[in-house]
Amino acid sequence: MEHTILITSQTERVVTDTKTLPFGKVPTEHMFIAEYSDGKWQNARITPFQDLVLSPLSLCLHYGQTVFEGMKAFVMDNGKISIFRMDKHHERFLKSLERMCMPSVPKKLFTEAIRQLVELDADWVPRGDGSLYIRPFMIATEPRIGVKISDEYLFMVVCSPAFQYYTNPLKVKIETTYVRSANGGTGTAKCGGNYGGAFYPTQLAKEAGYDQVLWTDAVHHEFIEESGTMNAMFYINNTLITPELSGTILDGVTRDSLIAIAHDLGVTVETRQMSYNELINAFENGVRVEAFGAGTAAVVAPIEIIAIGHKEYKCYIEPDAMMFKLQKALLDIRKGVAEDKHHWNFTL
Ligand code: COI
Repeated sequence: MEHTILITSQTERVVTDTKTLPFGKVPTEHMFIAEYSDGKWQNARITPFQDLVLSPLSLCLHYGQTVFEGMKAFVMDNGKISIFRMDKHHERFLKSLERMCMPSVPKKLFTEAIRQLVELDADWVPRGDGSLYIRPFMIATEPRIGVKISDEYLFMVVCSPAFQYYTNPLKVKIETTYVRSANGGTGTAKCGGNYGGAFYPTQLAKEAGYDQVLWTDAVHHEFIEESGTMNAMFYINNTLITPELSGTILDGVTRDSLIAIAHDLGVTVETRQMSYNELINAFENGVRVEAFGAGTAAVVAPIEIIAIGHKEYKCYIEPDAMMFKLQKALLDIRKGVAEDKHHWNFTL
């Protein structure tokens, strides 16, 4: 193997009852870490989960050169562990890294780091309806206050047991003042700054009684982009509609998987621009509207209320909704209950 991963001492931490803990709060016992300097990755190792020592001058702390991924591992019905869509996550990671001028991580290093870490912490992958959330990420560590592309990085992977991200259907607000991303910006990269920049408008929405914002485009403030930390999807008039990958939204792996599943189920899919006026029309004409967020952490997050201007509209969230059929079909593939015809499961 090109990169040998050393496993340092074991720790005493044991699996605890994590089901009631908030998402991402409890790390598993180990983490993966590799250093980039002199133009190459070195010292790839799995260590007990531990704090980092960083220079206060580290470039990531000042100029936001950070990129991350979010992935999941599942215990399948046959007891084996599977990691969902490693290849697609790696591809997206590389695109984000390129956009942020950060070094590429070879597929072998990415895959082996995650495979060996998940294998070692296999007892932490929840059985039943939970999953192990896997967070690969990279930060710029060169100690320099001068504004520059870092010459040094850390690539790390940490994991945390995950259950339901949202426990209740969401109330969202169409956002027409603040924007998440503009053409030519970093909207399609999974970089930390996209999330930090969303905090303020999301906080305002929360103060107004909503869970999340539904972002609109930066030019017209009219076309739907994505919802909080998820892609936005709608099911209206027997058609699954989701904004196209125009360069401002994230190429969500769950979004992509649900589109493929919808095709498999014979559902009409449209990936295109969608004005919030189209939603208003549907609501005001009594058309049934399903709306949901799709993301690795949230999977399928039903949206119950959409506020557009001063008016609130109610979406369809009954158990026979299409979003739940898609969600179940996805889960069945992950659990090995349904055929994995797209070869999405990387089985350990
Ligand atoms: C994910 O769904 O994996 C995300 O990255 C969203 C959030 C947890 C940051």
